[in-house]
Amino acid sequence: MSERTRFDLAQDQIPAAWQNLLPVMAQAGIPLLPPLHPGTKEPVTPDLLAPLFPEPLIMQEVSTEEWIDVPGEVLDVYRIWRPSPLFRADRLERALDTPARIYFKYEGGSPAGSHKPNTAVAQAFYNKQAGVRRLSTETGAGQWGSSLSMACSFFDLDCLVFMVKASYEQKPYRRIFMETFGAEVRPSPTSTTEAGKKILEQTPDSTGSLGIAISEAIEIAATNGDTNYSIGSCLNHVLLHQTVVGLEAKAQMELAGDVPDVVVGCVGGGSNYGGLAYPFMADRLRGVTPDMRFLATEPAACPTLTKGRFAYDFGDTAGMTPLLPMYTLGHDFVPAPVHAGGLRYHGDSPSLSLLVKHGHMEAEAYTQNDVFEAAVLFAKTQGIIPAPETAHAIRGAVKEAIAAREAGEERVILIGFSGHGHFDMQAYDDYLNGRLPEVEFDPAAEEAALARLPEVPVG
Ligand SMILES: Cc1ncc(COP(=O)(O)O)c(C=O)c1O
Repeated sequence: MSERTRFDLAQDQIPAAWQNLLPVMAQAGIPLLPPLHPGTKEPVTPDLLAPLFPEPLIMQEVSTEEWIDVPGEVLDVYRIWRPSPLFRADRLERALDTPARIYFKYEGGSPAGSHKPNTAVAQAFYNKQAGVRRLSTETGAGQWGSSLSMACSFFDLDCLVFMVKASYEQKPYRRIFMETFGAEVRPSPTSTTEAGKKILEQTPDSTGSLGIAISEAIEIAATNGDTNYSIGSCLNHVLLHQTVVGLEAKAQMELAGDVPDVVVGCVGGGSNYGGLAYPFMADRLRGVTPDMRFLATEPAACPTLTKGRFAYDFGDTAGMTPLLPMYTLGHDFVPAPVHAGGLRYHGDSPSLSLLVKHGHMEAEAYTQNDVFEAAVLFAKTQGIIPAPETAHAIRGAVKEAIAAREAGEERVILIGFSGHGHFDMQAYDDYLNGRLPEVEFDPAAEEAALARLPEVPVG
């Protein structure tokens, strides 16, 4: 019989609790630094976040409990597409002629096509419970906006999405997807917020960025009593909700009879990769699997982990969020409009940043041409067209598989397959027709943005 290539869990094996890595990091001697109030530079107290988030999410943000129950109403929605499958990419292995065994955890089968609904559903649920009428948010590639639009329609909430203009123009079908669920979508920067107006005054033809869209969405929530803000990545509670991915993957790797040597994922703000990696990382930090490697991948156009500075910085461009301790390129750094819109974020999750800083996680940056080469190979072998963001993880895994071949070594590689690329055909068209630029990063722009960081000592 040929080897098994698909590892499924039963529906009643969806994790009933999310895993919080923060207490495990603290036990391992790497406690998270607190977010700071931008004015006083003192640690932020939960009440400061109350205009934006409902209480259960604020408590999750600072929780020291390792396990947090998934509410039954959230599990009911998860059951639409979870547990997601784990596949062995045997055809890719053969094409690469590698002794490595490559697995991928496929989040593209969710209704929105990515991992993002795992937190969107939870956030919509807690906001509905708190009596909120509307959620405002940002979206880069459109995956997060699609997910929140769907979640809001399940829980009967209105949804306002600021979509980065570069993506709004590249991806009209993502906009229509969101509108189908009843969301209102605006191309950011808009003239409907003070933050957006300011950017448009300075740069009338701005293509936008996640940092700008976040400023607009937060402003709406802060100035409208019936509206809360919802974030698609970066914060602790978002990564927490995504750990359903890694918890399932751990059980599925057991079914496959393998333990990953390296866990690879792409990082925008860190939610899909944190979600996959953290349940495995808990074992590394506890000394159960001290040699397991973790590889975070990112675009050369927005090399936060590989070229950024570990510093306190704002999560948005206008400087409305608390100061977060993280790798950053500077809050007003605007990355080139690469197709991986979801990875065009100047900062990163504080916990993931710390893991990189302390050497528990490696990071690499790739150019678009390299990334799409790997994505096309994956499509031609496994039949699934990856989202441009996911393609970064695939590029990292292909590199690992080639290294295993060269070393003559059986390496077990686990890929976080964060989403499919069915709305990204323009990106593939640009790659296939040689229209992607070779140079995507301007170090002088980064230097200038870093010079404008708030002056707060870190650690
Ligand atoms: C398919 C996909 N993967 C990855 C990302 C990056 O976000 P994160 O780092 O939060 O997983 C996005 C963000 O939009 C996405 O749509």
